This record gives sequence, structure tokens and C-alpha cells, in this order.
Amino acid sequence: MLCPRQRLYLLLTAALSAAPLIAAPKERFVFVDPAAPEAASVRQPGEAAAAVVATRLITELTTALEAGGPEKAVETCHIKAQPLTNEPIPSLPQIVAVKRTSLRLRNPANAPDAAERAALDHLAALTAAARPPPGLLIQKIETDGAAAEWRVYRPVFAQPQCLACHGNPETQSPALRRLLRERYPQDAATGYAAGDWRGLLRLTVRPAAGNAATR
Ligand code: HEC
Repeated sequence: MLCPRQRLYLLLTAALSAAPLIAAPKERFVFVDPAAPEAASVRQPGEAAAAVVATRLITELTTALEAGGPEKAVETCHIKAQPLTNEPIPSLPQIVAVKRTSLRLRNPANAPDAAERAALDHLAALTAAARPPPGLLIQKIETDGAAAEWRVYRPVFAQPQCLACHGNPETQSPALRRLLRERYPQDAATGYAAGDWRGLLRLTVRPAAGNAATR
């Protein structure tokens, strides 16, 4: 039998050893209302960059599809999609990183980090509840001892021309199916219909100096 004092000690030890598990996480993510004044200097370049990158991707894809069909376009997407989405945008120096991610990935290299996962889960919950998605999400990531990181997310939807590679695999040519299987053995990015929510385009934005977001 333990005396009350021993029991208290054991309880305290248990509580202390559990403490690191319940301690605040190193990173905290919050979604910021896009209309909030502190988001203003982030929102505008984020929206502009999302438009530039989306247009770049669609133009590349359309040209490649027209030139050689989906089999050839996979080459373009495979080789170029990441550099293309990561290229700097000279007119928008505040954009420091660009990425595409999804809950159903083709390339595991596009897997979400924890903050992106929070944004994807938010969109997935809205989609499941048949609620309209926001045009964009703004997220602030706070890490102890570091300046806050700001991200702008734009939801990406499957359009008819996406379905050649992200639609029903049964409608793909055997050559395309083989190519996708070889390149992306863990491919989970098929079975979409036009209009389905596909994922997110993420832009990391450096707030303009002196703006509310930098404080
Ligand atoms: C010609 C085939 C093809 C077409 C058409 C296509 N994609 Fe993809 N998609 C790919 C390939 C290949 C990848 C993997 C790229 C990589 O390696 O990063 C990919 C990756 C993605 C990703 C990144 C997340 C992931 O799953 O790895 C998103 C988001 C995406 N595609 C959306 C779209 C949208 C939206 C369209 C239509 C506008 C589209 N795709 C059209 C082949 C295609």
C-alpha cells in the first residue's frame, strides 16, 4: 500500500512526465480574415501570384496537350511542374515560395507540411458539408522566437482538361496508364470529375516592410 504522500509523488511525477506531450506546439497556425487590416499587405501579392502561377500552369499544359497528347504532357508536368511553380515572379518580389499540394497526391514530393495539412483539412471539411469554398485562405504561422510566416492558399479545382490525367483511369490510353504507374506508383490523384476540389496552391508571402503583418 502506498501512503498518501507516495501517491501524491507518483501523481506529480506522472503529470510532469506527461507535460512535454501536452506542451504548446512549436508552431501555431491561425487563419486570418482576408479582410483584416493585418492581412492586407499579404493578400494582394498572394492573389496576384496565384493568378500568375495558375495561368503559367494552364498555358504550359494546354500547349503540351495540343502538341503531343497526355502521354507527352506528362513529361512536361513531371519535369516542369515543380520548377514552374517555384520560379520567382519578377514583378512580385514578396513571393518567397510556391507549392501545389493535395490530400490525394500523385507525387509524394508534393505532400503537405503541418500548416498546409491544416488548410487542406479546412477545405475538406467545407467540401464535405457542401459549403462553398473561400476564394482564398490566409494563414499566419507563429514559431517561438521567429518572425511570423504568412501564406496565401488558393483552392484548385479539376477542369475538363485535367481529367485526361486525373479522371477515370479506365478512360486513359494503356500507354498513359503505364507511364503514370511507372512514374507515380503511389498515385492517388485519379477519379476526379470536372468541378471537384483537387487541392491547394500555396504561396508564401513576405509582408511589406513596416506593415501591420510584420509586427
Ligand atoms: C498530362 C497529364 C496531366 C494533366 C492534364 C494535369 N495534370 Fe496535374 N499532375 C500531373 C502530374 C504528372 C503530376 C505530378 C507532378 C509532379 O511530379 O510534381 C500532377 C500533379 C498535380 C498536382 C500536385 C499534387 C499532386 O497530386 O502531386 C495538382 C494540384 C494537380 N496536378 C492539379 C491539376 C489540375 C488542376 C489540372 C488541370 C488544370 C491538372 N493537374 C492537369 C499530370 C497532369
